[in-house]
This record gives sequence, structure tokens and C-alpha cells, in this order.
Amino acid sequence: MNKTTILQDKKKEALLGGGIARIESQHKKGKLTARERVQLLLDEGSFEEIGMLVTHRSRDFDMEKEVYLGDGVVTGYGTVNGRLVYVFSQDFTVFGGSLSETHAEKIVKIMDLALQNGAPLIGLNDSGGARIQEGVVSLGGYADIFYRNVKSSGVIPQISAILGPCAGGAVYSPAITDFILMVENTSYMFVTGPNVVKTVTHETVTSEELGGAHTHASKSGVTHFACANEIECIGNIKKLLSYMPQNCEDDAPVYAYEAGNELREKLDAVIPENPNQPYDIKDVIEEVADSGSFLEVHKAFAENIVVGFARLGGRSIGIIANQPAYLAGVLDINSSRKGARFVRFCDAFNIPLLVLVDVPGFLPGTDQEWNGTIISGAKLLYALSEATVPKITVITRKAYGGAYDVMNSKHIGADLNYAWPTAEIAVMGAKGATEIIFKKEISEAKDQYTKLAEKEAEYIDKFANPYGAAARGFIDEVILPHDTRAKLLKGFKMLENKVATMPKRKHGNIPL
Ligand code: HXC
Repeated sequence: MNKTTILQDKKKEALLGGGIARIESQHKKGKLTARERVQLLLDEGSFEEIGMLVTHRSRDFDMEKEVYLGDGVVTGYGTVNGRLVYVFSQDFTVFGGSLSETHAEKIVKIMDLALQNGAPLIGLNDSGGARIQEGVVSLGGYADIFYRNVKSSGVIPQISAILGPCAGGAVYSPAITDFILMVENTSYMFVTGPNVVKTVTHETVTSEELGGAHTHASKSGVTHFACANEIECIGNIKKLLSYMPQNCEDDAPVYAYEAGNELREKLDAVIPENPNQPYDIKDVIEEVADSGSFLEVHKAFAENIVVGFARLGGRSIGIIANQPAYLAGVLDINSSRKGARFVRFCDAFNIPLLVLVDVPGFLPGTDQEWNGTIISGAKLLYALSEATVPKITVITRKAYGGAYDVMNSKHIGADLNYAWPTAEIAVMGAKGATEIIFKKEISEAKDQYTKLAEKEAEYIDKFANPYGAAARGFIDEVILPHDTRAKLLKGFKMLENKVATMPKRKHGNIPL
């Protein structure tokens, strides 16, 4: 056989993964193969494979009889919309995509290249975890990957798609990366599956309930996106990338934008007459951001805060906004965690932050206190204080108590703070405040009800507005809602070359 034919045969063999029958079974489950996923992700013809002919070295359990070229993972580089990315795609048809010593080495090789050359790493995960037949070398392989995930964190964007049952070690690498995407009904993430759960805790639970896309998108917050199918999932990875720079020393791509009429009259009617009536903050985001540019992250988790990427005048921004339409926009453990994580991503990758504030305070109660709301609230406070990217705040309505401080107040380093005339900036809401500070006066009054109402009105008159804060310069300008977009365009432009330094240190100690 001539040498070219040998090579061609080997390549053909590698393309087949675990074989036709297993590829068909993958398709029957509604899943694509590892190679189809890579094709879908990358620009046509851009994929360059690395390590196609790698095989495992395992000799126990008759493993030498079962050898597949590539060893269950397709690795290499290519482009997404013309921009370089590194990718690994696990092949479930080969030993369930499980991670052997050599499978790990292949991933490690492209992780090192991604970090060295400053380009995003995309992991398409479909793996039963450590390859059981290999014992400690597969555990070591996982640790090699985790170590590189950590070294790359904040240097290059890392995105993980979960496209099958990912168990054991297969979930920790994604957990360290910046974004996780899952697919409804075909992907699961758990440290231990339903059988182990049954044995240890006697709970009966399905894979879907325990670690499916819906569970992790809404209950645990482990996944940032729950997608209807793999095509939508890979489409979302491409969208996400479009808001990000290639690495921490780069800026996100700028999209073409022609200035036009930037007034947004609809915003004048967003805030209801009754201050206790909810409205949807996403209506504000839609008006403020470039049309159709908002990509919500963590949509179904902690809905009392909304986070996501958008563009303003063609430039990427990250938005963190209280959501009055859900639990009145209160801050709690999950919303603080969600907000903090998003802020830290944006800050690491030079994406300016817009914070929209309508928050009645922190959620009270034993559940919150006993589960550490103090620490979680502090995460958001820490993350926003620490962020050195351009930061602008708009208070649309309530900014009460500690939540005023936390939500990107002037005091923690915001560059520009705006308030709408409907803003209420105070230590607490009128009723609660009045009952405390006028307790004696009210209890001594003949008509306590009228006295309370009178004092409440007095308090509202004094504090339920932005003017006290504006008089001290804590608010830079009180603006009409319809001017918000124009103000933000100018503000972020003005802050474009911001340079901010923090004291020299190894790293801070965010309350984890
Ligand atoms: C070797 C594995 C494997 C593994 C699956 N396979 N997982 N081979 N090591 N970890 C093989 C199966 O033997 C099977 O081979 C093929 O992959 C498909 O698996 P099935 O079980 O038939 O598929 P399915 O029913 O879809 O179930 C998928 C699964 C299940 C949920 C992933 O296979 C499973 O529970 N696997 C084990 C998960 C696990 O406990 N992993 C180790 C975790 S410990 P054949 O030849 O029959 O097709 C770990 C430690 C790292 O990861 C810790 C670091 C912190």
C-alpha cells in the first residue's frame, strides 16, 4: 500500500469515531456527532484539526483491542465570523466521550495554544467523565484541564456547551469556564447521577430533574442558557462571542452604527403612577440599547435581576438591571450571585457596565439570612466596586438602603450616575421609615391613621426623589427618561479611554 493511501485510510477511520452504528444511535437521540458540531460552529473550511491520529495507551481490561483514532475527542482551531477560536468536541461514540490520559493531553494542547495566542476556548462537552479503565491517569488528565481553565480565567473567554450526559469530572471544567450552555432533553450535568443519589440519599429522581437544562437554568443557575436544540445552542455560542474581545488585552468588536434620532419617547411612559406597581425593566433595556442587540444571560435564574450583553452605538456593554416585575426587583442571594459573576466577566474583558436601578432593598427573612445573604450581597458589592471598566448608573425608581450603595453608586466608583425624576433615593420606603421615626408622634395622635398618612406624605416629599442625592453630587444629573439613550451614548464615549488602577496586590479576596 502506498504511503498516501495509508494516510487517507487513517483519516477516513478517524472521521468515523466509534463507527456508523454508534453515529446513528447518536443521531437517534437527537444529538449531532462531535465533528458535525465543529462544522456547525466554525466558518466553512476554517477548521484545522490537531491530534487526529492520537490513540490511547491503556492496556488493562483488554483495552488494546479497542483503539479509535482521535481517542474520543476532536480538537483544533478555526474561525467564527472570521475570528480565531480553539475548540474541542468530545465524541460520545468512543467510550462515551470519557476522558483518558491521551484524550486529556489533546485538550490540554489546544488549551495551551488558546492561552498562548490569546483566543477564546470553546468546549463542546459530551462525556461520561474519567475513563474508568484508566484509573488515576484520567483523574490526572482532568486536573491538568482544570488547572488550565483556572490559569486562562480572565485572560481568554472560555465557553462550554453541554451536549450530552456529562458526569463526574466532566462538569468541573465547564463550571470554571465563563459561560455554560445546555440543550433541553439531551444534556445533563451532575457530579453523581440518579443511581448514586438513590443509594446515598434514597431520593428517586430522573436525570432530567436532577441535572437537565431546565433544572440548571432555573434552580441551580449552573447553566447560563437552556437551548431548544444543538443548532440553537451553537448559534448562541456564536452570538455570545460577538460581544467579547479575543482576550483581556483586546476590545470587543465594534459594529457599524449610524447616529440618528436617539430620543426614546416610550421611556417617558414606562414608570407607573403608583410607585408599588411593577413594570418590565426589559422594556427599558430594549429602548436604551441598539435595536435588537440585547442578549439576555441567565434568563430563567434569579429573575429579579436581569443581566446580559447589548450594544450601544455599535459597542458592547454589559447590563445589570433590577427587575421590578419579579419579586419587586428585590436583591437576594441568587440575584446577587448572578449579578456579581456577570460583572466580573465584563470587567475582566473590558466590557463597560450599565446598571439600571429600581430596587426596594435586600429580601428579609430567615431563609435568606441563614443561607448567607450577607456574603452573597457582598459579592455584588465587591464585584461592582472592583470593576474598573467604564460604569454608568441610571436610577429609574427605587434605590433604597444598602441596595442603593451596592447598585453601582457613585461611592463605589461609578463614573456617571443619572436618575430619572421618578427616582426615590432613601434609607427605606416611606411607610416603614415613617412608622419608625415618627412612632411617638403617631402613637400620641388622636387620629393615628391621619397622622401616619400626614407624616408619610412629609417623608415622601422630602426623600422620595432624586434631588437630595443630586444636591450632594451623588447623582450627576437628573434626566428625562427619553434622553437616557443619548446621555449613555455620550457618557460611554466620554469614558472610552478610562484608565483606572487598583492598589498593587496579589489578588483581592472576594467573599465566596
Ligand atoms: C469508560 C464509559 C464511561 C466512562 C460511559 N462509558 N462512561 N467508558 N469510562 N466513564 C461507555 C460505556 O461503557 C458505553 O460503552 C458507552 O460509553 C456509552 O455509555 P452508556 O452507559 O451505554 O450510555 P448512556 O446510557 O447514554 O449513559 C451515559 C452515562 C453513563 C450517563 C454517561 O455511561 C454513565 O453513568 N457513565 C459513568 C459516569 C461516571 O460515573 N463517570 C466517572 C465519574 S468519576 P459501550 O462500549 O457499551 O458502548 C470522574 C472523576 C473525575 O469523572 C473527578 C475530577 C474532579
